[in-house]
Amino acid sequence: MGRVALVTGGTRGIGAAISVALKDAGYTVAANYAGNDAAAQKFTEQTGIKTYKWSVADYEASKAGAAQVEADLGPIEVVIANAGITRDAPFHKMTPQQWQEVIDTNLTGVFNTVHPIWPGMRERKFGRVVVISSVNGQKGQFAQVNYAATKAGDLGIIKSLAQEGARFGITANAVCPGYIATEMVMAVPEKVRESIIAQIPAGRLGEPEEIARCVAFLVSDDAGFISGSTVSANGGQFVV
Ligand code: CAA
Repeated sequence: MGRVALVTGGTRGIGAAISVALKDAGYTVAANYAGNDAAAQKFTEQTGIKTYKWSVADYEASKAGAAQVEADLGPIEVVIANAGITRDAPFHKMTPQQWQEVIDTNLTGVFNTVHPIWPGMRERKFGRVVVISSVNGQKGQFAQVNYAATKAGDLGIIKSLAQEGARFGITANAVCPGYIATEMVMAVPEKVRESIIAQIPAGRLGEPEEIARCVAFLVSDDAGFISGSTVSANGGQFVV
């Protein structure tokens, strides 16, 4: 049995591709999801990867979920905080609820996911943390004040965790995907999506597997000296 890897939001979109890439690389993967039972069941049927249902927005549920994964599979040595949502609206129309839901899942959700697992990583002197941020956390995005704030905040989390984890053999990194062909991006109105693709030098959306391969490298033993870094995978859309 390989190292145990937890992937939040791991049954759909980029998260599903990460779960599969890690399984293919020899990890024992636990794929968390929040609500879509049908998608999770289909994902397990297709991949053989075990799924676990809880909301990353809920600290106690995240703690209990991580404990369940560890009871079933063993200590979590790799954690991919991938779960994320959008509630897009121009700022003047954005409601406090739209703001809060995105903060709770995309920012507090990272705290809730990593915090219960962190002490075990420190004790065992090994850990890999990867947070899936976004190009829109790097550059901002019309109608995404909430989302961009969380994704920029996620970069602050990994930069700080990198400094705290280094002495304990724990690395923390972020991947910033650009626009990837997932349900989330397909939900953007077609005309807006076309105008976004026109701004991507590669001339296309990314594939979930292109993000998954970045993650697989960052969690590997080969990447032990890479910590606090941000890997941009956006087809040249935004160059930091
Ligand atoms: N830049 C400048 N102006 C823009 C704009 C942009 N990017 N997008 C829209 N506008 C303008 C519109 O032309 C319109 O102007 P007028 O009033 O003069 O016609 C105005 O802003 C929008 O007004 P609406 O009342 O039509 O807006 P709405 O309340 O219907 O909201 C929207 C529409 C939510 C903004 C919709 O256009 C949208 O979803 N945009 C996409 C936002 C986006 O890119 N989200 C990323 C999702 S994918 C993701 O998040 C994954 C990732 O990490 C990359």
